[in-house]
Amino acid sequence: KQRFVKSLSLALCFGAAMASPQLLAKTFRVAVGDGAGGTQHELGKSFSEELKQRTEGKHDTQLFLNGQLGDEQATVNDASMGLLDFSILAINNITPFSPSVGVLTLPYMVQSLDDAVTLTQGEVGQQLVDNTIRDAGVRIVGWAYSGFRVLTNSKQPVSSLADLEGLKIRVPNNEIMIDTYRAWGINPTPMAWSETFTGLQMGVVDGQDNPYITVSAMKFDEVQKYITNIRYLFSIEPLVMSEAVFQEQPEDVQQAILAAGKAATEHSAEWLVAQEDRIKAELVENGMEITEPANGEQEWIDKAVSQVWPKYYDQLGGKEKLNQILQSLGRDTI
Ligand code: MLT
Repeated sequence: KQRFVKSLSLALCFGAAMASPQLLAKTFRVAVGDGAGGTQHELGKSFSEELKQRTEGKHDTQLFLNGQLGDEQATVNDASMGLLDFSILAINNITPFSPSVGVLTLPYMVQSLDDAVTLTQGEVGQQLVDNTIRDAGVRIVGWAYSGFRVLTNSKQPVSSLADLEGLKIRVPNNEIMIDTYRAWGINPTPMAWSETFTGLQMGVVDGQDNPYITVSAMKFDEVQKYITNIRYLFSIEPLVMSEAVFQEQPEDVQQAILAAGKAATEHSAEWLVAQEDRIKAELVENGMEITEPANGEQEWIDKAVSQVWPKYYDQLGGKEKLNQILQSLGRDTI
């Protein structure tokens, strides 16, 4: 009997050794909310190349663009249950699952690419990584930087808040963004990202806000005419991994994933700087008209900051916490 057990375990060991190269090689599935040519796509491609290089070609990814694997908010649920390996989505679509992430969608908090890099790659970013693992079961392993969300619509040039009257504006299902539009005097329409193009095309809504690069990647120039160059939200779009799937990986693969995510994040910042102006010019060539907000955007800023910020102090860890963040960005405290 002993001999049988010994040969059985030898056979199992041998089988495992033979099978291991195949078992280890894995193509991770990555949901991408936006279309081709956007910052999410670029982050995904870069992450994939970096991961392949760091795992000697064993690990790769397959990107499913344009919300093919479901709406951005739905992909967080799927990843948290281990049904999906990765998702690249806008930070504002993670906030419903992990409210502290809302610090990155507070209107006028992030005022430049530098601010975005400081917050995501410093202490605040690390806390948000920990919080999203705890609250949403997903681990942020990389960040795409997409530029300011500008307002687009199909009806009229918008410069002042009064111009917004009567416009139906789509927003993500994100409380802070809904409250921002309310502070600006209108009631926006929450709508899933995957339904937004059709919503604009069918006239269910007249407008929406997203960065120039996203407007282009989603072909919104086909259904929108006017852009208002507001700067209330600098769009930050993380690459998140199912924490359950991350924990299943051997240590060396985990390290390769984290390093690939870091490298892809650096690439994203460079890519934004290199591409944003070109893409903005293309939108104008395609017929879009850009309007600057009146008086340096002052009324937009005043209303949003005075009415929205106080409502979220508690959810975001208190006023003191926000003051620390403002100080780390070299700005006045509140
Ligand atoms: C949204 O507006 O829902 C998202 O920010 C869009 C995106 O992921 O690009």
